[in-house]
Amino acid sequence: MLEVLNHPLITHKLTIMRNKETGTKDFRENLDEIAELMAYEVCRDLPVRSVDIETPMGACTGYELSKQVVIVPILRAGIGLLDGIRRLIPTAKVGFIGLYRDEETLEPHEYFAKFPKNLEDSIIMIVDPMLATGGSAIAAIDMMKKRGAKNIRLVCLVGAPEGAKAVQEAHPDVDIYLAAMDDHLNEIGYIVPGLGDAGDRIFGTK
Ligand code: PRP
Ligand code: URA
Repeated sequence: MLEVLNHPLITHKLTIMRNKETGTKDFRENLDEIAELMAYEVCRDLPVRSVDIETPMGACTGYELSKQVVIVPILRAGIGLLDGIRRLIPTAKVGFIGLYRDEETLEPHEYFAKFPKNLEDSIIMIVDPMLATGGSAIAAIDMMKKRGAKNIRLVCLVGAPEGAKAVQEAHPDVDIYLAAMDDHLNEIGYIVPGLGDAGDRIFGTK
């Protein structure tokens, strides 16, 4: 399943992020706000279980989340989505995957991995602003599956059709959520029109 979350608030904030005149502070703040809005949509079908509680007026059957949620940002740029999602799911656990894309080959290279326990029974949200060739997302999903994860969602801000197709072919069981599907990848593997290098714009490294 591939869902592009066309929402006026998300599109408005994403337009600010795309603008090359937008500085690090506004880029980061808008990413954080979009992450929260996306989380609301991505969590729409989270499983719940009934609980019997007492309100001040009497007995009531309520519903609470029944599965542990684990948010897994792909370092570095995925960090920019973490706080916004955690505001909506403060009980979520957090794992980390360190990957960088070789600038020549565009192949992802793993440099860090740290996860909470019980991935088999958890709902995993792998988060990264950019889905370009799909190589990083596919490697991240492979890493999670190798450790037992079964229920995985991929949450990205901007996707390229090439990357979405590659992930769908490699991992048809993984639901993909995007804020926007862009036009294409250029000859150096950047999304067009995209927003440039997400990690550099979040952390001010260029
Ligand atoms: C960027 C981005 C994704 C990856 C997408 O990270 O945040 O992780 O590229 O490209 P792909 O779909 O072709 O794999 P990058 O490797 O630049 O590392 P960074 O987050 O540390 O900047
Ligand atoms: N990584 C980015 O940060 N931006 C792109 O457009 C592609 C990969």
